[in-house]
Amino acid sequence: MRKALVTGGKRLSGTVSVSGSKNAALPILAATILLHGETTITNVPNLLDIISMIRILRALGLRAEYFEPNIVKVYTNNSIKHVAPYELVTKMRASFFIIGPILARMGLAKVPLPGGCAIGSRPVNLHIKGLEALGAHVSMEHGFVIVKANKLKGAKIYLDFPSVGATETIMMAATHSEGETIIENAAQEPEIADLAAFLNKCGARIEGAGEETIKISGVSKLKSSDYKVMPDRIEASTLMLAGAITKGDITLNGVIEQHVEPIIRKLQDAGVEIGVSGDQVKVKAKDGIRSTDVKTMPYPGFPTDVQPQFTSLMSIASGTSVVTETVFENRFMHVHELKRMGADIQIEGQSAIIKGVKKLSGCPVRASDLRAGAALVLAGLAADGETLIDDVERFIERGYENLIGKLNSLGGDLREINGNNHQ
Ligand code: EPZ
Repeated sequence: MRKALVTGGKRLSGTVSVSGSKNAALPILAATILLHGETTITNVPNLLDIISMIRILRALGLRAEYFEPNIVKVYTNNSIKHVAPYELVTKMRASFFIIGPILARMGLAKVPLPGGCAIGSRPVNLHIKGLEALGAHVSMEHGFVIVKANKLKGAKIYLDFPSVGATETIMMAATHSEGETIIENAAQEPEIADLAAFLNKCGARIEGAGEETIKISGVSKLKSSDYKVMPDRIEASTLMLAGAITKGDITLNGVIEQHVEPIIRKLQDAGVEIGVSGDQVKVKAKDGIRSTDVKTMPYPGFPTDVQPQFTSLMSIASGTSVVTETVFENRFMHVHELKRMGADIQIEGQSAIIKGVKKLSGCPVRASDLRAGAALVLAGLAADGETLIDDVERFIERGYENLIGKLNSLGGDLREINGNNHQ
């Protein structure tokens, strides 16, 4: 099992580019199930999760392949299978949203019910509520969700929570439904708008994606169309926080300012200088970091996927801050590891009360999920000595393209090592 060894104390400086968005590329690749012919998707990050999705598409009968640099070509013909393989779907729970496109294409879909994960139970009831509203019959058998519909019919669907995945599932299924579908209280994350932009290029008729009400007018056929994936706002936010936590001076290229607005504002509250010019964001943290409170919310609020990394930053801020997690029920696993590095944090319900300390001290730590892994890397960058983070593949390479290489290009001192030979 490969680990990341981070030697702290280096101020980051220099320029680095942001990769394509994992959470936009995944649903866009799933949407190719709806198409006919060849599709070229560019700016796709080279990640293990992307490879997992490519494997799922192949198992469904599509031809899909990754080409350097950051290109995926998919060829969709008519022989698509309606059963998604258990061992592939459960490797990446996010792939559950393939159920919408398979159902819309085949009138039948059989997808393993995803389990929970470290950050929460991750139910899919809102996905299922949406498909039932469109006329699908839903049943559960041997751990599979089975959905059937001779013809999907447009409907008005209210989401009890603005779920990103459920919004994507319903949007993809509704592109082929008869008539008009309205999704109310839809997720507004930029990845939703990116998926809609791709589908509209393929002939879908989706209005309002990125806002709280989305209207989809069903069409009979979608054609293949090439598409460039949007930049990854979570990676950009993570790199911005790496600049801040090391009191560095870095420049990011390829950022959409609006997508990282919450992080810009909170870093400014924390006393960090932020400069934006076009798609370039500069982060300069020459003085110390001030404490500030954060509450995660669905977009356009502060993203839950940046909460662990921001908690690491507040661990070394002057003063006390409160970080509240409202999206997932168990997303403070990184706090236990930060405390082993000397952070002073108390968890009270859905909030972490963080008393900033002068310095963290490096030690072996265990990541619980992708963003917790990133949070521990950031903490290691600022800590005294060495921090050893386990399972680089599962907790970093799954979701960040070449994070270690990017941080080293900014002057960081990170190494990948084989877990067995570090004394
Ligand atoms: C997407 O997950 C992202 N993943 C997550 O990023 C991100 O944290 C999350 O959205 C929130 O922004 C991808 O896009 C691949 P949700 P998703 O459905 O769609 C509850 C990362 O690190 N809920 O918006 O699964 C759920 O329990 C990952 O890149 C239901 O109750 O998130 C959670 O509390 C982690 N019923 C809340 O909604 C449902 O049917 C948000 O979940 C669906 C969700």
